[in-house]
Amino acid sequence: MARLLFFAGSARKDSINKKLAKCAAELAREKGAEVTFIDLKDFDMPIYDGDLEDEKGLPENARRLKQLFIDHDGFFIASPEYNSSFSPLLKNSLDWISRVGDENEKPMMAYSGKVAALAATSPGGLGGLRGLVSLRMMLGNVGVTVIPKQAAIGSGFQAFNDDGGLVDEAQARMLESVIDALINATDRMSG
Ligand SMILES: Cc1cc2nc3c(=O)[nH]c(=O)nc-3n(C[C@H](O)[C@H](O)[C@H](O)COP(=O)(O)O)c2cc1C
Repeated sequence: MARLLFFAGSARKDSINKKLAKCAAELAREKGAEVTFIDLKDFDMPIYDGDLEDEKGLPENARRLKQLFIDHDGFFIASPEYNSSFSPLLKNSLDWISRVGDENEKPMMAYSGKVAALAATSPGGLGGLRGLVSLRMMLGNVGVTVIPKQAAIGSGFQAFNDDGGLVDEAQARMLESVIDALINATDRMSG
């Protein structure tokens, strides 16, 4: 069964994207996937700086995060939209783990052969949809197969009930169809 990593591109304590990633993780668990949820707040890293990398190599948290990517077949990213793009936290984390950590390591170990599903939620009506365009492009360029289905949940501050589920049935069905597609694609890719 698919081993899937779930996280949000926000470190904020009350992040609605963390809620979305948790909700998606729960759905995938119910469907039998092996699920890991992580909070990027636990993987704090400096802004990428080539001089820092030359001096000290990859930060310990980048190594830990990269290993998690390597150990999973697919990812689900709930990505906040910042000015029509994705968050600097997410970009910085994805950049650090794209770097080769050890001499004999193959390039792009975190990404090649992996599958990803994208989702977003924001307080606005479009639900952060525009930010997924640049994230999809970036991940595709580093070798990730990003599945076509995605979910954007508008009015994000009202979207979740106290149990962490989506209030709106149509939105819940949309998220479920993304999870189904992620599990199917990951199972196909990892044989
Ligand atoms: C710098 C910045 C830019 C933002 N730009 C957008 C935007 O383009 N579209 C949008 O829907 N929301 C935008 N927002 C609002 C975020 O969607 C909102 O803060 C959301 O709660 C962030 O996600 P989180 O709760 O998971 O941290 C922006 C917020 C910040 C801080």
